[in-house]
Amino acid sequence: MTFPRCAVVVLAAGEGTRMRSSTAKVLHPLGGRSLLGHALSTARSLRPDHLVVVVRHSRDDVAAHLAEIDPEALVADQDEVKGTGRAVWCGLQALPEDYDGTVVVTYGDVPLLGPQTLAGLVEAHTAAGAAVSVLVGEVPDPTGYGRVVRDADGAVLRIVEDRDAEEAERAIREINSGIYAFDGEFLRAGLAGMGTDNAQGEMYLTDILELARAKGAVIVATGTPDRFELEGVNDRVQLAAFGRELNRRLLESWMRSGVTVVDPASTWVDVDVRLAPDVTLLPGVQLRGDTRVETDAVIGPDTTLVDCEVAAGAHIVRSHALGARIGEGASVGPFSYLRPGTTLGPGGKIGGFVETKNAEIGEGSMVPHLSYVGDATIGAHVNIGAATVFVNYDGVRKHRTMVGDHARVGSDTMLVAPVTIGDGAYTAAGSVIDQDVPPGALGVARGRQRNVEGWVARRRPGSAAATAAERASAAGAATENGSAADAGEHREGTLRP
Ligand code: UD1
Ligand code: CA
Repeated sequence: MTFPRCAVVVLAAGEGTRMRSSTAKVLHPLGGRSLLGHALSTARSLRPDHLVVVVRHSRDDVAAHLAEIDPEALVADQDEVKGTGRAVWCGLQALPEDYDGTVVVTYGDVPLLGPQTLAGLVEAHTAAGAAVSVLVGEVPDPTGYGRVVRDADGAVLRIVEDRDAEEAERAIREINSGIYAFDGEFLRAGLAGMGTDNAQGEMYLTDILELARAKGAVIVATGTPDRFELEGVNDRVQLAAFGRELNRRLLESWMRSGVTVVDPASTWVDVDVRLAPDVTLLPGVQLRGDTRVETDAVIGPDTTLVDCEVAAGAHIVRSHALGARIGEGASVGPFSYLRPGTTLGPGGKIGGFVETKNAEIGEGSMVPHLSYVGDATIGAHVNIGAATVFVNYDGVRKHRTMVGDHARVGSDTMLVAPVTIGDGAYTAAGSVIDQDVPPGALGVARGRQRNVEGWVARRRPGSAAATAAERASAAGAATENGSAADAGEHREGTLRP
């Protein structure tokens, strides 16, 4: 598609009182982007020469957000004169004085207007050589909207605001979306002579249509059957409805491209998420931000991933992950918490009730149960025993722990950083390791066990424990060679030096 040269003016100066929020309306998020972010993304699809955002309420917040998401956009401040007409006039002040391209006007609070619909409006405008073109359509409840007044032949005469409308005009169901394409010169001239003689004492941009009509210029109205493209978000009830609709559309498009979504009603994906074919999303999954999931991965149930990368064939069950990278065929969960900087190698495992942060876990390595792994570099094919803690914080600074390939850290080991466990080294269960363990060594750091024989009989006579012990020793005496444990046995997690 080739477009005429154009500038887009995005209106975002309104107060948005019905949101009842200390946050500017256009900064409220929807599907991982601000409302304004959605509007800008559609505006940018026209590849405009200039993009201007008109601001006033929460001006500094909006301008700061804009600098972040679209630094090239121009900011225009609306003065104290109210109305959409004045807003556009202020927006035009940010353009070069001799700018002669088409001027497109959109709203910062209309998040679901799609690039194709906007392009269609501009194309129709250009093809007809129109002075003004407007996007119109029907919504379930037209109350509050400007109505499109047509003559007997269907030609657009003007747009009348709800508050200025007569009974018969209020019955019109066709509304003005407020999205337009203008001949720049015509727009400038029209705005220059615009008044505020109406029920709200505002400069109505819609007055331009009557002017065009009076001058015999061409007016085009293009329609869309999709009410979500026409409507803006005014309150939080609408915000939720638009969020649900956006999500429904995103999921539908992912399903058509080969993603299994078991329960679309409980699955939420942000606009920038990318999913490969044959990904499966189980119920209760939220994929947010810049999350990418490769083929054959299974996510959920009940899992939230924010800015994560999940490689092919990985499984993540009932977990919460931020800024984590999960390797091919790796598994996570249930009930684990992966914080930024976590990378899990191919075939690795982060099991149940594990928290990780800034942790590189190598290929085939496992942290199967109940551990905290913070500021760690763990090699390949390592096993971290249950309830191990990487003690990374001395109260002032964070320190790193290194664990070499094929090392086996015994259950309930405290690894007091900075510390290094060499390749193929072991630690004994229950050790507090604060010195390096060389490759192949066993690090042991715990008190030796001592059994005080007959203690229960002496100190807890007559207790249930004493009775049980008595019974056991009687039985032991009866079978003589009974069940004495093999004191030399080495079981994993209970290593003895
Ligand atoms: C406007 C239209 C109405 C249309 C409706 C669609 C006019 C006179 N009326 O209604 O025909 O059906 O939009 O939603 O144009 N804004 C500013 N500065 C202002 C006023 C508004 O930037 O002084 C911005 C708002 O931030 C918002 C948009 O313009 O993004 C529309 O404002 P809103 O007050 O919702 O619309 P109305 O003027 O009531
Ligand atoms: Ca509105």
